[in-house]
This record gives sequence, C-alpha cells and structure tokens, in this order.
Amino acid sequence: MSGIFRDGLFTGRHVFVTGGSSGINLRIAEAFGKAGAKVSILARKQEKLDAALALLASQGTTAKGYSADVRDYAAVDGALTQAVAAFGPLDVLVCGAAGNFPAPAMAMSSNGFKAVLDIDVLGTFNACRAAFEKLRTPGASVINISAPQASVPYPMQAHVCAAKAGVDMLTRTLAMEWGGAGVRVNSISPGPIDETEGMSRLAGDAETKAKVEQRVPLQRFGTRDDIANVALFLASEAASYVTGSVYSCDGGMTLMGGAFMAM
Ligand code: COA
Repeated sequence: MSGIFRDGLFTGRHVFVTGGSSGINLRIAEAFGKAGAKVSILARKQEKLDAALALLASQGTTAKGYSADVRDYAAVDGALTQAVAAFGPLDVLVCGAAGNFPAPAMAMSSNGFKAVLDIDVLGTFNACRAAFEKLRTPGASVINISAPQASVPYPMQAHVCAAKAGVDMLTRTLAMEWGGAGVRVNSISPGPIDETEGMSRLAGDAETKAKVEQRVPLQRFGTRDDIANVALFLASEAASYVTGSVYSCDGGMTLMGGAFMAM
C-alpha cells in the first residue's frame, strides 16, 4: 500500500472487518495487518474468505475468518465472540458489508430493496450492537463504510441512497451514545474506487469509467489504498477527537451533488 503510517502503529491491536473478504474492506484489513494488527474478517462466502486469509497470511498478517451473514444477529455475535476469544478485545470494528445492484425503483422488488437495507443498515447495526461490549475501552473505534449516495440522490440507487443515509445516521447516533465510553464512531464515504465489486457493477465498462473520471474533480478513480489510509487515520491517535464524522474520500465527487449524475 502507499502507506503514510509507520510500521507497527497497530501492533497488539485487534481489528474486525465485516465484508472483509474483498474490495475496499479487504484492503483495509491488509493495511491494518501491515501496521501490525491481528485481523478478523467476516464474510458470507467461505471460498472468498479462504482466498482473503491466504493473501493476508502471505503478507505476514495474523488473521482469522468467520463465515456469517451480517443480517443474522446471532451469527455476527457468535463470530465476534470467537474472534475475541482468539485475539482479545476489539480495538477497531470496520462495518463494510454492503449490497448493491443498479436498478430503477420500478424494476426493484420490495425484497430487492429490503435486501440492501438489511445488509447495509441492519448489518451495520448488528455488528455495532454485538461488538460494543467486546470493545477495548476507552480508545476503541468504529468505522462504518458509507457512500456519496447517503447525501446525493442517484437514479438507479434508491435502495443504496436510503441505506447509506441510514448508516450515516447510525454513525452519528452511536457516536453520541458511545462517546462517554471512549468509543469513537465515524463513517468513510468512498467515491468511485478501482478494483471494487461496486464500481464494476456501476461503471464496469471503459466508456462509463472514462465519463466518471471526467466528472470527478480530481479526474481519476480512487484506489483502495486511498480508503485504507483514511481508515488508518480514523482508528489512530491522530483522530482521537474525531467522532460522528462522515469522511468523504471521493476525489470531490460529492461536491458535484446531483450534477454528477445529470451531466
Ligand atoms: N436487479 C433487480 N433486483 C435484484 C438484482 C438486480 N440486479 N439483484 C438482486 N435483486 C433482487 C432479487 O431479485 C431478490 O428479490 P426477489 O426475491 O423479489 O426476486 C432480492 O434482490 C434479493 O436477492 P437475493 O439474491 O435473494 O439475496 P441476496 O441476499 O444475495 O442479496 C444482493 C442480493 C444483490 C443485494 C447481494 O448479493 C449483493 O449486494 N451482492 C453484491 C455485493 C456488492 O456489490 N457489494 C459492493 C457494494 S458497493
């Protein structure tokens, strides 16, 4: 990674990442591992977990994986309990598990809308709720993965817009409720990021990608390292007075508002 953080910054820490078997979340897990943390990753599919664990092991990271669906509270709680038994109390919880498919509202069934709301909002709540009593306090930190759709309406994304707005309000509410326990809660809002399932679904072909790049103020897609670096910052001492914030890491995309989609 294009690390700006010194080796060993998170040595002795335990970082738990939901949706951690791929994309942005896997790169966040890699970054914390390279900074010395023990890493637990949770994801639905065992084969993707196995591949991610092999990658983390190849980088010298001590890691374990848990197969569970974030919509299932008991399964998430069980995974967290096992992770704490293996690596100790949690220092950082990253809630990254998310669902997405592009579709206009009228092509989306009630169940399709619900699937994304359940994965994003309920899944984030479940992980936060189950993790709270397993956090090392004071000093632990929660990072929820949001998206520009939380504040900017995008056609074809009614479910994601509603879900990510919910995620950000969870971030803010938990930041207020958990501040007294010394737990900081923040969101990261990634813009268009290369090498992610989300962008391959939303802008998978070269023509769409080029159009997106022209519209982003910084004129490029972000990298997974761009997001991992923000996660390292938010979990570090450098951000010890930062809570309840939604950190945009999107090349300025959100500044364009609805114009981004209208152009
Ligand atoms: N268009 C319209 N509806 C779709 C759809 C699409 N492309 N993909 C799934 N759905 C609907 C299904 O038809 C189903 O509704 P129905 O029961 O009325 O038919 C509903 O969504 C649930 O689908 P299902 O496959 O049963 O559930 P799931 O739990 O696997 O969730 C996804 C489906 C698509 C939400 C989920 O697999 C997913 O998000 N995968 C991609 C992950 C990803 O891209 N992550 C990055 C996020 S930025």
